[in-house]
Amino acid sequence: MCGIVGYVGKKEASPILVEGLSKLEYRGYDSAGIAVIDKDVIEISKCKGRLANLKDKLDTSPVKGKIGIGHTRWATHGEPSDINSHPHTSENGSISVVHNGIIENYLHLREWLSSKGYKFYSETDTEVIPNLICHFYNGDLLDAVMKAVSKMEGSYALGVVSCDEPDKIVAVRKDSPLVVGVGTDEFFIASDVPAILNRTRDVYYLNDKEFVVLNDAGVKIYSPEGDEIKKELVTVTWDADAAEKGGYEHFMIKEIHEQPKAIRDTMTSRIIPGQPITLDNIKMTKADIENIDRIYIVACGTAYHAGVVGKYVIEKLAKIPVEIDIASEFRYRDPIINEKTLMIALSQSGETADTLAALREAKTKGARVIAITNVVGSSIAREADDVIYTWAGLEIAVASTKAYTTQLILMYVVALYFAQHKNTLGVDEIEKIKNEMLSLPEKVSEVLKHKEVLQKFAANNYMHKDMFFLGRGLDYAVAMEGSLKTKEISYIHSEAYAGGELKHGTIALIEKGTAVIAIATQESLYGKMISNVKEVTTRGANVLGFALEGNTSIESTVDSAFYLPKTIDILSPVLSVIPLQLVAYYMAIQKGCDVDKPRNLAKSVTVE
Ligand code: G6P
Repeated sequence: MCGIVGYVGKKEASPILVEGLSKLEYRGYDSAGIAVIDKDVIEISKCKGRLANLKDKLDTSPVKGKIGIGHTRWATHGEPSDINSHPHTSENGSISVVHNGIIENYLHLREWLSSKGYKFYSETDTEVIPNLICHFYNGDLLDAVMKAVSKMEGSYALGVVSCDEPDKIVAVRKDSPLVVGVGTDEFFIASDVPAILNRTRDVYYLNDKEFVVLNDAGVKIYSPEGDEIKKELVTVTWDADAAEKGGYEHFMIKEIHEQPKAIRDTMTSRIIPGQPITLDNIKMTKADIENIDRIYIVACGTAYHAGVVGKYVIEKLAKIPVEIDIASEFRYRDPIINEKTLMIALSQSGETADTLAALREAKTKGARVIAITNVVGSSIAREADDVIYTWAGLEIAVASTKAYTTQLILMYVVALYFAQHKNTLGVDEIEKIKNEMLSLPEKVSEVLKHKEVLQKFAANNYMHKDMFFLGRGLDYAVAMEGSLKTKEISYIHSEAYAGGELKHGTIALIEKGTAVIAIATQESLYGKMISNVKEVTTRGANVLGFALEGNTSIESTVDSAFYLPKTIDILSPVLSVIPLQLVAYYMAIQKGCDVDKPRNLAKSVTVE
């Protein structure tokens, strides 16, 4: 993963690079570093750990210069250490590089370069890049970078500087994101827009293998073949304040509270009472929809869990068979794909390498692809046939919250859209679901008002090593997401289990005091679920149970109960996930964990 930035202009580069990196720390935070050129000398400052360490270092030993590159790392090749931190520099000191991605043939390149006398000091794949560029350098940095990348396999977004051409940055991307920012007399590169949003809103989105040269006079973009090309300058409309905590202690809790708005925004213009569902500019005709005989929803992490809900609802409402796949597994299991296949690629960032690779695989085999993503202009959005955006706004906390609930909303919207075209539901049934959906933002706000039971459960259970989440049907799908939140931010091992399946083995782990959250919001499964909860309370588990308002009978079975506003079965995940996010958050706080930047994780995983 990692985040990269670059600056060239008339101001001191170092603070601008550090500011940009602070907005990219969500991409990794194992180490940070910058390379700044002053006259024709490259000065490097880098160190292990959070960006704060680099800031301290720069306070005592500043680096000066008006052009530079920076990096925040999520370690893949080589442990987090000073030496493995980026930027990496060619052995002769002339070329420095920041890299996001993985060079898959780096061992081969390293051997080849070693045979030519180059020496290597780090364990990283990246260190071959500056040396490769150096090897090809013959007075033209762009030409050398082009030659070097032609030898590289894998993924990369690169920022390159050279003391032999101290006025420019050369950058290129393949399968890792990179935007170019255009300000007044200053120009930027960054892995993601928030890094430059305080400086400019005008950006170029680069396609794979496009090269860019930046100096203080402007930006030139080149095709993979080396011809200068013109691209559309896009003005970003995001609110820069979205990248601030706005009075909340953490981004995660801020984003949890933003869910009513995010859900409302995502429904806007798509769900209007009395009017057919519209799906943006989706190009599918009624005939195209009737032609679909199978849908694959493909995603990773939290988005995968939204996809599990999607499978249930699309099958139920639109009567189309749906398979839900983990993206990293999908392409290697030889799935049956043809021109009647629809893939829904679900991704908050739109940059997840596994999801992108699955999308490409499906397209190669003739499937049509709809992307559901939160990031306009992201790779997945651009490569899909159609795109539907979750209007969740910028999500910064590594643990995804509002992206999940808005993905759920779009799962319902897609299911209803298909149902409407296939006549699998009557107009009245569709209207009923739409009206119920429109009441969800208010109901989520209501859930957010009642935190005491959740705080108490968190305070009593945060010290546990293990936890279980139980549910049946859609409650099981939500249990998976609750379990993931708990693992991600409070480092408690947890498992989500289908209520009826627990007794087939895993119940052996339940003992006196085992912490369990049981979700029983599905009216049609309520009785069965209560029986499953009894199976664990009988064995001494300490159970927090979720039920819809009015189903107070749960109290005789569980230790504490949390009630959710009444809704229809298919929509309950939007409500029941909220207390699960909160419990995970409160347990993480009790444990003193770094909620927004959990260990070993990164928000956007752009390596396979
Ligand atoms: C990473 C994040 C998860 C996220 C997953 C998929 O692993 O830590 O929170 O759910 O990637 O990300 P995407 O951007 O594709 O939804």
